[in-house]
Amino acid sequence: MSAFKPLVFSGVQPTGNLHLGNYLGAIKKFVALQETSDCIYCVVDLHSLTAQLVHADLQDQTRSITAAFLASGIDPKKHIVFNQSRVMQHAELAWIFNCVARIGWMNRMTQFKDKAGKDRENASLGLLAYPSLMAADILLYRATHVPVGEDQKQHLELTRDIAQKFNNDFSARIAELGVGVEIQVGEETVNGFFPMTEPLIGGPAARIMSLRDGSKKMSKSDPSDLSRINLTDDADTISKKIKKAKTDPDALPSEVDGLAGRPEAENLVGIYAGLADIGKEAVLGQFGGQQFSVFKPALADLAVDKLAPVAAEMRRISADHAYVDGVLRDGGERAGNLAETTMKTVRDIVGLLQG
Ligand code: AMP
Ligand code: TRP
Repeated sequence: MSAFKPLVFSGVQPTGNLHLGNYLGAIKKFVALQETSDCIYCVVDLHSLTAQLVHADLQDQTRSITAAFLASGIDPKKHIVFNQSRVMQHAELAWIFNCVARIGWMNRMTQFKDKAGKDRENASLGLLAYPSLMAADILLYRATHVPVGEDQKQHLELTRDIAQKFNNDFSARIAELGVGVEIQVGEETVNGFFPMTEPLIGGPAARIMSLRDGSKKMSKSDPSDLSRINLTDDADTISKKIKKAKTDPDALPSEVDGLAGRPEAENLVGIYAGLADIGKEAVLGQFGGQQFSVFKPALADLAVDKLAPVAAEMRRISADHAYVDGVLRDGGERAGNLAETTMKTVRDIVGLLQG
């Protein structure tokens, strides 16, 4: 075989409210990619157990993320939408990857360091192995492209390292079974079972920052609700949060270079650009020289315009448990079939006895 079939995979954790960063950095890209590729979008509930093992509302959160996917325009018939725990092969492949990856690789992950804090010895093994499960999510479908926000870049590099080490450690078996695909690694062409997945990161909204502090990313876990716009916020709340967003006293520059050293201004311009589907240059073309007293109301109107219909649709869909659960069940079945096909070969490659 000469190439992997193009396939998009991405995941979102069902922990906390979805915010504008998730929407612009990830979900909007998921929607756009449906036009050009086969896509699998997964609510990664097993990953959520690393944050909090006892989760009173994990099932509701899972439905709510699914509703956000559907409300944003993801088509669960043409593509696949499911929750991770339905397809047990994710955990199975993650175990095999735990035996391929090195502890040192996991220890270097900045997300692990941030989340584990000072008391690393006391972090769960699941939190340390989180990226190995993420690599399994992607490689179980031999996905070639993964749309994510900037914060996931390091995890995707690790996914490639795991794929490469697996391909290398088992190269003889892969050749013997004839299950390899030619892949380009640097200058070299090798025969591998897993692809070198490409991240799809970029655009003006790859890293949306907190509305209260331009040096911190907008996050589900920030204690201040004013720091983020939730996908479920109503129009008044959205306007209030944008009005209160931290800025500096200067007018907006006319060129993108003028945003250097002005993280809060850059963030609001990036948000406008992401919502309007234009570049930062175009935003500054329109608002360069204007004060925030002019720009903020325009941004608030745009945000309400774009987000209110998604929020309303999300509320409607979330309430219909039977529909949402049906989508996940159907998606889980289709994902499970693909996953089992991969795992049969993986079990053969690593030498597990089956059949
Ligand atoms: P999570 O909620 O951590 O599962 O993230 C879901 C997706 O949203 C991932 O692709 C993240 O990279 C993306 N994301 C999260 N926060 C931000 C942010 N502040 N800016 C841009 N993308 C983000
Ligand atoms: N780690 C990702 C996040 O926190 C979520 C995730 C899990 C994911 N598995 C994935 C993203 C596979 C892309 C592909 O945002």
